[in-house]
Amino acid sequence: MTAINIALDGPAAAGKSTIAKQVASKLGMIYVDTGAMYRAITYYYLKNKSQFSDFKNLISNIQINLKYDENKGQRVILNNEDVTDYLRENDVTEHVSYVASQEEVRSFLVKLQKELAEAKGIVMDGRDIGTTVLPNAEVKVYMIASVDERAKRRLKDNQLRGIESNLEQLKEDISKRDEYDMNRKISPLKKADDAVEIDTTGLSIDEVTQRIINLT
Ligand code: C5P
Repeated sequence: MTAINIALDGPAAAGKSTIAKQVASKLGMIYVDTGAMYRAITYYYLKNKSQFSDFKNLISNIQINLKYDENKGQRVILNNEDVTDYLRENDVTEHVSYVASQEEVRSFLVKLQKELAEAKGIVMDGRDIGTTVLPNAEVKVYMIASVDERAKRRLKDNQLRGIESNLEQLKEDISKRDEYDMNRKISPLKKADDAVEIDTTGLSIDEVTQRIINLT
């Protein structure tokens, strides 16, 4: 296993997870999808919010573990339940940026993510990995792509997963989520000063993967 960490940040649907998975597999590293962790808390919040007075209270009732399945990849286990299959549902996507803007949620997950990366060999993707979670990562990449291209990719992705969506709505959702993520108070989405920016518009998965591998 490569004894470095790779931080991969960027806006919604920029292709981070596809690329991160491929980079990790080629370099014998472990891929950690931090968006899935925020989505898992959002899933729990939507199901149980009436029981909790605030996010501090809610977080104190949550335990999150990541498991790796040879075929299915990263699985998110929330209070002993594998919730991975629910994390891409529209309701979760609609509320995740709000939940992810909460201080208690961020400090809980950032701590967990730092611990996961302690032993190195991690490719971690998200919004604040290069700036906050792994500021000392050996390789930092900030991936961007046009909203048009990102919406088209997400549409394809959703079709494969059997999730109903349409292009115009996706463009709107993606732009709204970026706006929220870039303007929140705590660790907003932004390029770390020392990150390498890659515009993936028009590039193939293999080309982007190779560019990142060349940085290691
Ligand atoms: O990457 P993904 O689209 O699954 O992320 C879902 C949401 O989780 C983002 O829109 C953002 O609000 C939040 N997130 C975050 N910090 C991360 C990863 C995701 O705030 N490191």
